[in-house]
Amino acid sequence: MRARAEAGANIAFIKYWGVRDQRLNLPLNDSVSMTLDVARTITEVEFSPSLSADVLTINGVSASQAALRRVSRHLDLLRERAGVAWRARVASRNTFPMGAGLASSAAAFAALTAAAAGALGVALDGAEMSRVARRGSGSAARSVYGGYVWWHAGTDDASSFAEPLAPPEHWDVRDVVAVVAEEEKKVSSAEGHLLAHTSPFLRARLAQVQRLLPRVREAILRRDLSALGPCIEADALAMHFVMMSSRPPLFYWAPETVALLKAVQVWREAGVAVYFTIDAGPNVHLICEAEDVERVVARVRRLEYVRRVIVAGPGPGVALQETA
Ligand code: DP6
Repeated sequence: MRARAEAGANIAFIKYWGVRDQRLNLPLNDSVSMTLDVARTITEVEFSPSLSADVLTINGVSASQAALRRVSRHLDLLRERAGVAWRARVASRNTFPMGAGLASSAAAFAALTAAAAGALGVALDGAEMSRVARRGSGSAARSVYGGYVWWHAGTDDASSFAEPLAPPEHWDVRDVVAVVAEEEKKVSSAEGHLLAHTSPFLRARLAQVQRLLPRVREAILRRDLSALGPCIEADALAMHFVMMSSRPPLFYWAPETVALLKAVQVWREAGVAVYFTIDAGPNVHLICEAEDVERVVARVRRLEYVRRVIVAGPGPGVALQETA
């Protein structure tokens, strides 16, 4: 009872921030993302009657108790479906450097869901795979699919799942990640999602999201970066304003984050079509089309405070690689 699966991280153009139901990971708003080709997780799961507890390694190293508990809870969802009590050995590897701001629960839980379901012989269609992955990590619901993906917030377990908007080959958008800090963040997204309700700006952001969603969808379908760019910047800023105005406040930005936002403005004024988005951390994702990527990378590399540059494009969805 063993299987291996691979999944990619994703970068959200309209962000998921705030939960309405913590147990089910039901988000407050729909979100839209691009699954990435370079930031991938490969996970192997083996269920065995000889194990007395689940075992988890990440990049060959024994994982923390907290990570193991989260993975065990996720495996329980699939064990229940399969009617199997066996414990599992889980080995997960990332194809990207740790601490690059890409370490992603999305890729991890999408790969874990597919590998565990494969090993247990539980057949899941895309929507069901997305629902189960969501229980492990909200954004994992989106990494089930490749390319451009829309996660319907829904109101209960059945209605909250992702759907593909367009495949990876639809549009060659690049995510140039400017890494300015490699430390692990102090407040996890899981904790942050619970604080969103305490911000007086939450309602304003959610209203803006409703206006942006159809524009983002159209812009992706028409491959129109000049329409998409301003929407993703507006939502990234709004999400960070909610974070910063939560009680207690969450500041994910570093001084270098602001410097990069200003640099993007200057580059755009000079004619480079590049836009930013920022996740729950200080690193800045520079979104451009393939034809501009060299110009963007050259400019980012000139900034002495950028420690590392990673270039990702649209990648495939979760893939089950091997079952035995
Ligand atoms: C800022 O999916 O990491 O990246 O459900 O607690 O695992 P959990 O949260 P997570 O939150 C993602 C937050 C974000 C925005 C996004 O990717 O939509």
